Amino acid sequence: VTVYVPRDSAARSVGADAVADAVRRTAAAQGRPVEIVRNGSRGMLWLEPLVEVVTPRGRVGYGPVAPSDVEGLIGAGMLDGAEHAHRLGIVDELPWLARQTRVTFARVGVTDPLSPEDYVRHGGLEGLRKALDLPPADVVAAVTGSGLRGRGGAGFPAGIKWQTVLDRADEPKFICCNADEGDSGTFADRMLMEGDPFLLIEGMTIAAHAVGAREGYLYIRSEYPDAVATMRAAIDIARARHWLGDRILGSDLAFDLHVRVGAGAYICGEETAMLESLEGKRGMVRAKPPIPALEGLFGKPTVVNNVLTLATVPVILDRGAEAYRQLGMERSRGTQVFQLGGNIARGGIVETAFGVTLRELVEDYGGGTLTGRPVRTAQVGGPLGAYLPTSEFDLPMDYEAFAAAGAMLGHGGIVVFDDTVDMAAQARFAMEFCAAESCGKCTPCRIGSVRGVEVIDRIVAGEERDDNLALLEDLCETMTEGSLCAMGGLTPMPVRSAMTHFSDDFLARGSRGA
Ligand code: NAI
Ligand code: SF4
Repeated sequence: VTVYVPRDSAARSVGADAVADAVRRTAAAQGRPVEIVRNGSRGMLWLEPLVEVVTPRGRVGYGPVAPSDVEGLIGAGMLDGAEHAHRLGIVDELPWLARQTRVTFARVGVTDPLSPEDYVRHGGLEGLRKALDLPPADVVAAVTGSGLRGRGGAGFPAGIKWQTVLDRADEPKFICCNADEGDSGTFADRMLMEGDPFLLIEGMTIAAHAVGAREGYLYIRSEYPDAVATMRAAIDIARARHWLGDRILGSDLAFDLHVRVGAGAYICGEETAMLESLEGKRGMVRAKPPIPALEGLFGKPTVVNNVLTLATVPVILDRGAEAYRQLGMERSRGTQVFQLGGNIARGGIVETAFGVTLRELVEDYGGGTLTGRPVRTAQVGGPLGAYLPTSEFDLPMDYEAFAAAGAMLGHGGIVVFDDTVDMAAQARFAMEFCAAESCGKCTPCRIGSVRGVEVIDRIVAGEERDDNLALLEDLCETMTEGSLCAMGGLTPMPVRSAMTHFSDDFLARGSRGA
């Protein structure tokens, strides 16, 4: 019998290693040796550790399973897919999963992340093989035609970025993958790296062929030790199989890839600070222009893309730009990997076409709050994203629709809060976060964020309320207009959204309603 127990760090954090051990020991003791596969996570985080047993009807899930549950489960016939209070049914048929459109995450949770055989069996390398048969310009045209936009948050068209690097005559060129995933409530990059690392390698290799690069760097935050280890192991396997190195898959393409680990600064997710860090310097933001596509790593033309952007490329090459383009709405094409977190009953990964509403994600998929209290707001797009009131929850997930509402989709993180949240405290936190994480290069961000904390404190203390509210608005404008990068430039977004939609929370403490 084959049993799947995730190796994803979210599953490990709630005891998946001990569960895998218990399954192995208990099954052996009962004379039923099992083959345990440590897969990625299916992204249904409230069910982790989710144990899946292969049966003739499909993979039957049990979850969440504690190590102490295992003996009882096996005694009750889990290894044959038998009924039990923890039995969830055929995992692929669970409505939460079956409703999704898993494109980038198609293999995550399904396969053994470090098995190259499994990867190929499930369609791996098809995109790269097709790309290698095409001249670079046609690969770039496919990415442009698919409508794929940067999944790191800014949503810049990936094909146009690649074209800029392809057109640049300067050599050498680099592919840099930004896996610094610093946004609060986001974990899709991590789960992709831990759950399907060869996909990211394949995407970066296609990018190398498309723009003429021979070397790539994967910049992973130090908070992700499992992702670092998985990617390093996958790169070694890929090299041994000639999926990396010289003459990739027997072609003329030569490309190699290195992992670099960050040191815990949020700002190193900003692309130019990341390049500085990769060059061994302190992570400080560079002025743009020049953009990295023209002068990036070591001053050379560089593709900087997020994990999800690069990991989507193999699917586009394999199935065709048009198939990808069919999904989505308006200028937001394809799928987005939404991450549900915060105070939510069913948190995890929902990959679905753009156009889904925030309400569907928070209420239908997420099942409302974990506390059972009413949802009051969701912050979308990380710590620099807006807080949306429930009256705006019918907004479709679309870059432009969000921008028009004074919000942003960002990297797809959605953090839910119930009616006990204090929005003045959340606004203060945004300023505090900016003060802590500012690289210090420009004044509006470095000093403005510290002043922002003080002004909010004065507002809630009831000191010269109108003057201080006007001052806060003025400060937000200065930070938005005068900051060098998105850190200082976007911090006003959560602050303003809190002031606009939840103005009562900014009344002096003591004078607020119940
Ligand atoms: P940006 O709009 O300045 O640039 C977007 C990308 O397009 C960059 O890679 C830039 O180099 C490139 N680009 C711009 N013009 C180009 C051209 N003509 N040719 C080729 N490439 C071009 O935005 P930025 O500052 O890179 O990102 C800000 C976003 O980052 C925010 O909207 C936020 O959502 C997101 N973010 C994501 C985080 C995460 O953890 N994933 C953390 C914090 C912010
Ligand atoms: Fe640095 Fe903040 Fe200026 Fe960005 S806005 S360059 S983080 S000081």
